[in-house]
Amino acid sequence: MSKRQRQAFGSVRRRLRLVGLLTTIALPPQAFALHDLTRAFFSVGLDQAAYLLPFLFVAANLPLVFVVAKRRMLRGPWGELALLPFSVAGIGSLLYLPLGLLFRLAQVAGLPLPWWLALVPFALILYGALIGQRWMQPSRVEVPIEGLPSVFSGFRLVQLSDLHLGGFVSEARLRRIARHAARLHGDAVVVTGDIVDRDAQHARRAGEILASIPAPLGVFACLGNHDHYAGAGRVAEDLRAAGVRLLVNQGVALERGGEKIWLCGIDDITFGGQDLRAALEGRPDGVPAVLLAHNPNFFPAAARAGVALTLSGHTHGGQFGIFWLHRALSLARLITRYVAGLYQIGESYLYVSRGAGLVMPMRLGARPEVTELVLVPAAEPVSSSEPIPAA
Ligand SMILES: [Fe+2]
Repeated sequence: MSKRQRQAFGSVRRRLRLVGLLTTIALPPQAFALHDLTRAFFSVGLDQAAYLLPFLFVAANLPLVFVVAKRRMLRGPWGELALLPFSVAGIGSLLYLPLGLLFRLAQVAGLPLPWWLALVPFALILYGALIGQRWMQPSRVEVPIEGLPSVFSGFRLVQLSDLHLGGFVSEARLRRIARHAARLHGDAVVVTGDIVDRDAQHARRAGEILASIPAPLGVFACLGNHDHYAGAGRVAEDLRAAGVRLLVNQGVALERGGEKIWLCGIDDITFGGQDLRAALEGRPDGVPAVLLAHNPNFFPAAARAGVALTLSGHTHGGQFGIFWLHRALSLARLITRYVAGLYQIGESYLYVSRGAGLVMPMRLGARPEVTELVLVPAAEPVSSSEPIPAA
């Protein structure tokens, strides 16, 4: 078999695998939900809607033909629009599965549920696709820092993460995210990776937008796995050229009133390039360290090394979660125990941002986030909910 034939064969095999994956995951739940919805509509006399439903489900799945043919996701605002019906039908049907079983159990028990309940999962997904993924949530977290110099008490870091410019996140949307960050008036801005989605050509523009956020001590960043997919060398070069201070296995002392804290970052752990020793090199004795590490799974190693605060992203909060019940009830729990929010090991803290961007155009129960982190001395935790002004 020639090289060309082998390539063609490999391509067909990959497409068949993708078709197999999609038909296994996406189609059976939709068939199940379609069956139940059609019956429910007939039962309440909505015959025309019942006849229309199969056509709507088929139309919703048409974008998958593009995904299979091109072997890549749809991107940008038009891709988002094209995927909206599929999100509602496909993900809504997955959500419907437990409800469908509940309907059957209720029927057997002689306590039939109202038919319109079957529409709730689809309405929730529609909400997540239209509103939940755009509705930015500002968070404010006080973090006790062991050995924090008193002049740094109330020091504020504004964290952004997982911006994914060039995927479903447009420049206009990134500018809106940057305006949210600017309104927090932080002493420094930190961006914990996945700045671009998969294409390095967006790095320069992302860097310019991020560097334009006003912060007296500057805008700092580390790289994420998606920045590596895009090409870490070009992304790093363009971010630096735009004015972002990239911390890849390196650190810098932030000074105030003659005192210091050490702000550092590691390369993403997905590709094994992280070097915490290098990131902490040059840190004066006794100076607390704040580490930017895209993947929160690095936290135990950072805690062992005495890092006071690790800032991460990567999880997107699962983009789908039931945080009001428990933060472990999130899709992100499949990849890490550090899903979202503040965690502690001994005197060391981790904050995991849910990120401001997205990889699928839907968020439900895990709104995008811009975070204001207020450093306070460990011995004197500040209980006030009022913003602490910078010294
Ligand atoms: Fe990400």
